[in-house]
Amino acid sequence: MFGSLTYVLAMLSLSIVAIASPIQLARRAISTELLERFTLFSQFATLSACDQNINHTGQRLTCDYGTCGLVEADNTTVINTFHSDHGPTGYIALDHTRELILITFRGTVSKSDGNTDLDLGLTPIGEVCTGCKAHHGFWAYWTAIASQATAQLHDATSAYPGYRLTVVGHSLGGGLRRWQGLSFERKGSVWTLSQLTFKNQWTFGAPKPGNKKLAEFITNQQLPNSIYRATHTTDPVPKVPINLPFLDWSQPSPEYWVTQETGVQATADRVHYVEGINSRAGNAGSDRDLRWPNPEHGWYFGNMSVCAAPIDASS
Ligand SMILES: *[C@@H]1O[C@H](CO)[C@@H](O)[C@H](O)[C@H]1NC(C)=O
Ligand SMILES: *[C@@H]1O[C@H](CO)[C@@H](O)[C@H](O)[C@H]1NC(C)=O
Ligand SMILES: *[C@@H]1O[C@H](CO)[C@@H](O)[C@H](O)[C@H]1NC(C)=O
Repeated sequence: MFGSLTYVLAMLSLSIVAIASPIQLARRAISTELLERFTLFSQFATLSACDQNINHTGQRLTCDYGTCGLVEADNTTVINTFHSDHGPTGYIALDHTRELILITFRGTVSKSDGNTDLDLGLTPIGEVCTGCKAHHGFWAYWTAIASQATAQLHDATSAYPGYRLTVVGHSLGGGLRRWQGLSFERKGSVWTLSQLTFKNQWTFGAPKPGNKKLAEFITNQQLPNSIYRATHTTDPVPKVPINLPFLDWSQPSPEYWVTQETGVQATADRVHYVEGINSRAGNAGSDRDLRWPNPEHGWYFGNMSVCAAPIDASS
């Protein structure tokens, strides 16, 4: 959940030389229906940090803190888990009530997750789009489990053909969500996963996925309202890595910027729809916030920190 302190501070300190993007002011509030979906998917993301959901299969998703009521009201089953001290951790679950297949990875909680964040290289991914470069750490993290996860999702989608595939993540886990979508689309002909609605991705406080060409690709390939990238007030994580001209780190569009204060349930009028790659009308234009662990990062449509031991915060 909480990434490496050194990483975030190093990236924020670079912002003094960052070039500001043109200010775009257009933004509007969201519907109450969309607010509920954001709340639901933030709960799914939060639960991927809870041991009981990632150590066993066959059981319902649960939380011990009374903060996942929407998920607990549904008929869910964990069908696969990833659990590793040195790699990706998360779950694949079914939500029979809403007919969803969910793949969810937790955010940064371990030292090795922190190393993934710290891996700041950009890897060319010409197989996805011309000129695109991805965050090297995310890409390596995803490719490490891509074949296993792809096979499991293939089985799940065969068994539940009417269910909608949905990818969810917070923080580092949110960065990964985009790779899943892209990777599966490239493998669509192999797995027939292109038949599925994969463009249903919910991220909370995700860092930048790669360069501007990649942000353009993600922005342009999506159907209307298909990638739900939430940010919260001054959360520093979506702002990193800083967009230096020669590296060109970028966030895709659109953004759903939550302006409700930490600890207070967001209302629809406090969630702003912001358009434009690297738009500064949302989180990117908010005040610098150097606190770490960062309370704005740990709270979105509820408390996303309930199960995360912020190991890295003490380092
Ligand atoms: C889940 O597995 C991890 C790693 O094996 C272990 O550290 C943790 O104690 C387990 N938690 C539960 C609730 O079984
Ligand atoms: C949950 O859904 C599964 C699959 O449709 C069904 O077999 C099971 O009976 C349901 N459980 C509850 C408690 O409704
Ligand atoms: C979120 O939950 C954690 C763990 O229970 C708690 O320490 C923290 O204070 C909570 N945050 C807020 C804003 O309520």
